[in-house]
Amino acid sequence: MNLKIKIRATSIAAICLVGLSCPVLADEFDNADLERWQMEYMAVVEEGEKLFHGGLGNPNTVSCDQCHPNAANTHPETYPKFQQQLGRVVALWEMINWCLQNPLETEMLAADDPKLIALQAYITEERKGVELEPGKH
Ligand code: HEC
Repeated sequence: MNLKIKIRATSIAAICLVGLSCPVLADEFDNADLERWQMEYMAVVEEGEKLFHGGLGNPNTVSCDQCHPNAANTHPETYPKFQQQLGRVVALWEMINWCLQNPLETEMLAADDPKLIALQAYITEERKGVELEPGKH
């Protein structure tokens, strides 16, 4: 938290204490919110799992799991990193697009396409707890 934000948070707390109108803070949430967010997240992970195991509908029917059985060897924790297939430092979704265009011989997806987000959610969930090592090969 930088100093400016800290001062702002303190003055909001002070305003609340003296009983003036208390603005809703962005980070207020309860257990019901946490449960809902987890459910939303897991629904996207499950969608990604289906896509990864043959659900993409690409004409050549090649699926991600033929080369990356349970997504463990997709190493999301090493991104961003230099990938020689693309010749520059790329984000995880760009590497997925490389696989979509090459082995799967299908269209690449926009960065905010729900399918691309779901694939990333599944891949990353499979590697949960693995230490972040951006740039590693
Ligand atoms: C025919 C085999 C094949 C298929 C099918 C395939 N990939 Fe790949 N994938 C590769 C190869 C080859 C690489 C590059 C190897 C490397 O750089 O580690 C790679 C790399 C990756 C990486 C980066 C791995 C790393 O360690 O940096 C991700 C993420 C990935 N693929 C996701 C996918 C997804 C998602 C699909 C399905 C849409 C898919 N791949 C389908 C062969 C495949």
